[in-house]
Amino acid sequence: MPIAHNVAADAVGLENLSICLALRRAVFVDEQGVDATLDADGLDDDATQFLAWANGIPIGTARLRVVEGVAKAERVAVLDDFRGHGVGRKLMDVMEANARARGLTTILVHAQLAAVPFYEHLGYAASGEAFDEAGIPHRRMTRGL
Ligand SMILES: CC(C)(COP(=O)(O)OP(=O)(O)OC[C@H]1O[C@@H](n2cnc3c(N)ncnc32)[C@H](O)[C@@H]1OP(=O)(O)O)[C@@H](O)C(=O)NCCC(=O)NCCS
Repeated sequence: MPIAHNVAADAVGLENLSICLALRRAVFVDEQGVDATLDADGLDDDATQFLAWANGIPIGTARLRVVEGVAKAERVAVLDDFRGHGVGRKLMDVMEANARARGLTTILVHAQLAAVPFYEHLGYAASGEAFDEAGIPHRRMTRGL
């Protein structure tokens, strides 16, 4: 059965933060070479954490913070072996619904250049020049909620 049929995603409590951090370490630190101290930036307690599972096993994560009245999606990561099956889309869907339920009207992401087409697929529009974050070029992208 395609994995997409068994994928779930939802907000999780901070008791699950170690699982989120392990997934982020696998994707951002081990795979992409981002400095571990930049990933664990001390802002996790102020964020809502999200997990995605395939058959109950955690395979993706993201976090949502409200920055100057705007929802900001951060640390969106799906394990390499599980990409291309709608997991990232599901994580973004639940984060957008969460932000909408809080009355927020815009969601922002600093998208790695390689991920810009993914966010465009989901209705996000890029603006401004590329900028560096954690040694990786990014673009600012937003979508109305
Ligand atoms: C970016 C990332 C989260 C996408 O997750 P994913 O589970 O592979 O994405 P999905 O399968 O949900 O893709 C959703 C849609 O975007 C499209 N898409 C995904 N990545 C794409 C890419 N690089 N280029 C073009 N389209 C892409 C898919 O084809 C799909 O389209 P469809 O619904 O019309 O079929 C994942 O590739 C990842 O974790 N990358 C490494 C970490 C990273 O760069 N995170 C982003 C930080 S800003």
